[in-house]
Amino acid sequence: MNDELKELRFSVNGKPYELKVKPKALLLDVLRKELKLTGTRTGCEVSACGACTVNLDGMAVRACSILALQANGREVVTIEGVADGDKLHPIQEAMVAHGAIECGFCTSGMVMSARALLLENPKPTREDIRRAVQGNMCADSGYVKYIEAVEIAAKKMQGGE
Ligand code: FES
Repeated sequence: MNDELKELRFSVNGKPYELKVKPKALLLDVLRKELKLTGTRTGCEVSACGACTVNLDGMAVRACSILALQANGREVVTIEGVADGDKLHPIQEAMVAHGAIECGFCTSGMVMSARALLLENPKPTREDIRRAVQGNMCADSGYVKYIEAVEIAAKKMQGGE
């Protein structure tokens, strides 16, 4: 049967999970409804706003647009897994310190896009950062402060500040 539940084994924020999911279940729904990780936002649900961005094996993906089963055997990191205990990730710290947060709805997706960028490219140019976050829609602030915050975080992670 097509709707028969399938086994999903994956790691989320460093923790292993084994779940039974519908074949067509979206990663976004499994994260939010099954695992209660609601920091990943539900926005447009059609891959247009970036609010649902998570990291899958280090890459930025839109959780509303991939099946949960596509994460089988892989490693997912959500906004809840970015900080180190009580210590914010440098991207989060820089966004807070630099005032790059307005209503906050898009922030988790922005952080996850920036995290994926810095994993792949620790010394991004401003243009690299702009390209990495341009798919994360922000209705409030524009992008300048976000881009500057990612530059600050990248320098800090390089030991430059
Ligand atoms: S909710 Fe996934 S891109 Fe908008």
